[in-house]
Amino acid sequence: MRTRLKPLLWGAPLALAALGGCTREGKFQPVDMWNGARLKPYEQVNFFDDKRSSRVPPAGTVARGQDRLNESLYYGTQNGTLVATNPLFAAASPKDKMALLERGQERYQVYCQPCHGLAGYADGMIVKRGFAKPPSYHQERLRKVTDGYIFDVITNGYGSMYSYGSRVPPRDRWAIVAYIRALQRSQNAQPGDVPAGKNGSEEKVEPPLEPTIEKPSEGGQKP
Ligand code: HEC
Repeated sequence: MRTRLKPLLWGAPLALAALGGCTREGKFQPVDMWNGARLKPYEQVNFFDDKRSSRVPPAGTVARGQDRLNESLYYGTQNGTLVATNPLFAAASPKDKMALLERGQERYQVYCQPCHGLAGYADGMIVKRGFAKPPSYHQERLRKVTDGYIFDVITNGYGSMYSYGSRVPPRDRWAIVAYIRALQRSQNAQPGDVPAGKNGSEEKVEPPLEPTIEKPSEGGQKP
């Protein structure tokens, strides 16, 4: 028994020594994993053709927190004062505008409708059950406020309405603002809002066509 254990006793330290590694310069050192191969920032490297170790991010890369650099988009202000118009909506193509409104409608129905009501008349379920009644969006004062003002109410809250800053990210806030503006417009439409030639007076209304009844073909089809 003793003799059989002996090779093991000698073998273990030898095996441990073999686990040692080399430094990048080729010097021997025992394994130390905290000193792995790495490149210092801007160090030259032969692996890439341009010899740059710091790589250029792929086109379209969005850095985390990048929106913060855009004051009007992220904070709703320009040089510290609330912006007049919705920057996200203003910059969007007609197709993107529609998508933004749809997003705004969906987010509005999640976060605002319970109090402000489906159409913005402050008749939401929470109000019906006794929560303080907000003002209707369709009063003159709120029709005249800027887009930035509504963005600010969502971000910081207003009076007894608490802040939605932590729940609704800035881009969604702008989508909601666009939707509220659409709601306001829808409840206060003026004859002038209808494009010329589309208000019905000039249009001839065609009588509905007589329904045509197809005769069943003779013989029919065999099953
Ligand atoms: C829990 C109920 C509730 C929810 C949800 C809610 N609000 Fe309000 N909101 C209120 C109340 C109450 C007021 C009036 C506060 C006051 O005058 O003290 C108000 C006021 C407002 C005003 C008018 C501020 C003014 O100048 O009078 C706007 C704009 C507004 N809310 C937008 C929103 C938007 C957008 C959302 C969704 C992101 C939202 N609210 C969600 C209860 C709510």
